[in-house]
Amino acid sequence: MVSYSVGFIIVLVVVDCNRDQLIRLLVKCMDSFNFRPIGVIHSCYKEKFGIPRQAGLVQAAKASLELHPPYDCPDAVAELRDFSHVWLVFVFHQAMREQWKPTVRPPRLGGNRRVGVFASRSPFRPNPIGLSAVTLEEIRCVRGHCSLILGGVDLLEGTPVLDIKPYVPYADSLVDANGGFAAKAPEAELKVTFSETAARQCRHWEAERYPGLRILIEQVLSTDPRPAYRAGQGGVQTFGMRLYDLDVKWRVQGDDGLEVSGLQLVGKED
Ligand SMILES: C[S@@+](CC[C@H](N)C(=O)[O-])C[C@H]1O[C@@H](n2cnc3c(N)ncnc32)[C@H](O)[C@@H]1O
Repeated sequence: MVSYSVGFIIVLVVVDCNRDQLIRLLVKCMDSFNFRPIGVIHSCYKEKFGIPRQAGLVQAAKASLELHPPYDCPDAVAELRDFSHVWLVFVFHQAMREQWKPTVRPPRLGGNRRVGVFASRSPFRPNPIGLSAVTLEEIRCVRGHCSLILGGVDLLEGTPVLDIKPYVPYADSLVDANGGFAAKAPEAELKVTFSETAARQCRHWEAERYPGLRILIEQVLSTDPRPAYRAGQGGVQTFGMRLYDLDVKWRVQGDDGLEVSGLQLVGKED
């Protein structure tokens, strides 16, 4: 449902304003839209660190989109299952800022070159709205309430979703498009290994709760989630990221490798 913020409600409330202030308020209100999320994402990514920079880069990254009533009815998703992919329009709810900046520094460019915000896919934009094409793996409807099971997501836990649209290849796949500074997909260059302890812990959690956990960790880490300024630094660097409710620790190994050193339930120490 879409609703406009209607100026006259403000007129009733802000009786103390002078005429100019009132006009400015009215213009602002009539100029804005108020969208209600149709659902919320439950993702394997529980924090921003480690999330790939685009959808599709880590196919093993799963999420469910829980539709809110009344959008969760089977009628609303009828025939959607025939599409292999969907576009999600969502809110970067953890990138809300009062001020926006006309230029941003995409990590893709090493974080040291600025481009116009509208030439970027940065979460920090005038309207913090994101757009991802993700794999539609399944639609589950239980007792009349439907949710979507998705793959290849780049979305944080709790992301509010504004809309779903089917991905339509004839219109959406533009083979001769020019990709500017992001012409090529970033290559997964790093070799990921597991210490003996980490491999054992990973097998345990795969069997217990998270099938496909090892491949998820390998795919995420091979894209090198280190901040650009840390990637060139020498010495032993240890990092941690959260996947599901696990704290995954890893360290840099040589020039082109990362070793996963341990997996712990969040909040639990050895
Ligand atoms: C560069 S954006 C691209 C998102 C989308 N595919 C787009 O192009 O609009 C991807 C990054 O957004 C961040 N992100 C994902 N969900 C978010 C959320 N709900 N709030 C804030 N940042 C989020 C993650 O750090 C991720 O690496």
